[in-house]
Amino acid sequence: MSNGVTDRVALVGSEQGLGIDPDLPIASAALREAGLAVDVVRWDDAGVDWAGYDLAVVRSCWDYAWRLEEFLGWAETVPRLRNPVEVLRWNTDKVYLRDLERAGLPAVPTAWNPTGADELPDSGEWVVKPSVSAGSRDTARWGTPAAVLEHVAELTGAGRTAMVQPYLASVDALGETAMLFIGGGFSHAVRKGPLLAPGEGVRQDRDSRGDLRPAVPTTEQRELAQAVFDAVPGLADVEGSPLYARIDLVQDADGRPAVLELELTEPSLFLPQAPAAARSLVRAVEAELALTRGRSPAAPPR
Ligand SMILES: Nc1ncnc2c1ncn2[C@@H]1O[C@H](COP(=O)(O)OP(=O)(O)O)[C@@H](O)[C@H]1O
Ligand SMILES: [Mg+2]
Repeated sequence: MSNGVTDRVALVGSEQGLGIDPDLPIASAALREAGLAVDVVRWDDAGVDWAGYDLAVVRSCWDYAWRLEEFLGWAETVPRLRNPVEVLRWNTDKVYLRDLERAGLPAVPTAWNPTGADELPDSGEWVVKPSVSAGSRDTARWGTPAAVLEHVAELTGAGRTAMVQPYLASVDALGETAMLFIGGGFSHAVRKGPLLAPGEGVRQDRDSRGDLRPAVPTTEQRELAQAVFDAVPGLADVEGSPLYARIDLVQDADGRPAVLELELTEPSLFLPQAPAAARSLVRAVEAELALTRGRSPAAPPR
């Protein structure tokens, strides 16, 4: 609430996401407690008047992976969207990992659309995934170049971009560390357990929120995540930092942190694992509302 006007905020999900995203009830309750009028809506609900919101915040639009053009087309039509459509456009295809590498930021080594065993990264086990995906859909761990190349051919045959990475054994031992940024600064870290079992092949029903626990990142992880976060405006060609970001780090073969994924579209924020983060989200949304309305925030950002 500001100047006697109640700001209207949309938290945007998909049919599936709205039902099961554990962040949504926490985020909506915190925003309402702060005096905002909050609707939780589907991005593909034709009945929604997007111009009627002071801010629309993309959350669990988990079906974008197979509806990408439709999703980005929708995002173009929303006047005050976070993250903005330019960021979504850049971030919904993991080819952005190349931009990170070009910027000198370490990403998991990736071969793009390899056609022969000699083009695979040096490893005894590999991960194959489409460059547009979420929730480990169409993703698998393989132990032979033949299996890798067959999966790659399936993906490229369907017009998709295939990525092949070494399977990082550290994921089995240490998992991945999700570094959450909310409102321009680091918020919290969560450790995610491994998802791909050997010999399992492609599965569409993995629960990527199964094994989660709060984590304390190392200085090296903090520094890398911050550098990646700071690089986003330049790489996505936008002004200002994103409202939310999640940077998933793994340990590479040399024991150094590397970026597995940079999630600026619909990252789970793991609010149930970080009780203070909902408050950060409220402050971040209030700051965005102040910006979009050309007002100064009620309180200085903390
Ligand atoms: N190179 C890799 N080494 C080990 N595990 C991996 C690798 N790539 C992906 N995985 C596993 O697969 C999951 C999904 O892959 P990810 O790149 O995060 O894509 P998305 O989450 O968008 O589906 C990861 O959370 C991780 O458990
Ligand atoms: Mg992931």
